[in-house]
Amino acid sequence: MAVPPARRISAASARAHTRKKKQSNSFCSPGLIRKTLAILVVGLVAWLYQSIQPPAPKICGSLNGPPVTSSRIKLKDGRHLAYIESGVQKEKAKYKIVFIHGLDCCKDNVFPFSQEVLEELEVYLLSFDRAGYGESDPNPHQTVKSLALDIEELAEQLKLGSKFHVIGFSLGGELVWSCLRYIPHRLAGVAIVAPIANYWWPNFPANVSNEAYAQLLPQDQWALRVAHYAPWLTYWWNTQKWFPASSALAHRSDHLDAKDKEVLLLARNRYSEKVRQQGEFVSVHQDLIISHGNWEFDPMGLANPFPGNEGSVHLWHGALDALAPVSLTRYIAKHLPWIRYHELPDAGHLFPLADGMSDAILKALLV
Ligand SMILES: *[C@@H]1O[C@H](CO)[C@@H](O)[C@H](O)[C@H]1NC(C)=O
Repeated sequence: MAVPPARRISAASARAHTRKKKQSNSFCSPGLIRKTLAILVVGLVAWLYQSIQPPAPKICGSLNGPPVTSSRIKLKDGRHLAYIESGVQKEKAKYKIVFIHGLDCCKDNVFPFSQEVLEELEVYLLSFDRAGYGESDPNPHQTVKSLALDIEELAEQLKLGSKFHVIGFSLGGELVWSCLRYIPHRLAGVAIVAPIANYWWPNFPANVSNEAYAQLLPQDQWALRVAHYAPWLTYWWNTQKWFPASSALAHRSDHLDAKDKEVLLLARNRYSEKVRQQGEFVSVHQDLIISHGNWEFDPMGLANPFPGNEGSVHLWHGALDALAPVSLTRYIAKHLPWIRYHELPDAGHLFPLADGMSDAILKALLV
């Protein structure tokens, strides 16, 4: 007589049960080892995950966060942007300029333009904390593009008019390319000063970017590799103590040009407490990731934003720059004939902070 299916199954499961019982009697059974290993691996992964996660940012104005002391606007997505105005009154100004600060800086680190020149040229100057810096809320969805859109919205809310100028320095100079790409219709002219370049922009020939990359300190080569290929590891990489991380974030200066060292000594730490007060990840680490990530466009693919000569694009670089290799800027300038390129033979990275330089940059842009 055939056994009904239900009976067959239960007989099979009974056999399996006996097998399991036999196995669990043995202390070193393969099953137990596998389970223990699995638990260990899960535990290790959870621990690693924990240790590479940046802590939650301390938002300005929140319960345990730093106080809000600056003027701020509220963007459409609810984030605040802090800003500072200088020069002549907006209503009387002939030129309105938005300044974009660099890595590990904030809105107060604007170029030292002289008040006389600002008045003579009738310039209104607006500087702001980029998202996550100083007193501006972090933007968890920050991209190269979102920065340009933040500037456009800031200009809108502060009624800068249909067109304004932009000056960006260092990593802020790199971000001016984003303005040229995403809000060219709002620009009256731009100055890109000592810009950081992204070694992964596809229009750089491999030999050009490799040669420039090789000039960086090994620790910076690694910090940028991590930011590009493993951005999720950036926080851990730049906060661990086993090996040196980004030299800029660690304020290392021995490899800089002599004049840069001098300027740095004078300028250092004047505002640094505010710069990263909301957390390193939302400020400086995110900057590394954005500036060296995969961009949606390549600046060398941009068309002339001022085909009718109604504005100009100035590019400045010091030949002794140890932080942003001049060769890349030179290559860009050669590639884009509409750029007005100014190369300073004995200047390093911080030349705009030297006496009179920022006024010269301003005059070149406006006059
Ligand atoms: C890169 O290669 C091109 C063509 O092979 C050459 O003309 C150029 O000088 C090289 N540049 C560098 C920086 O080596």
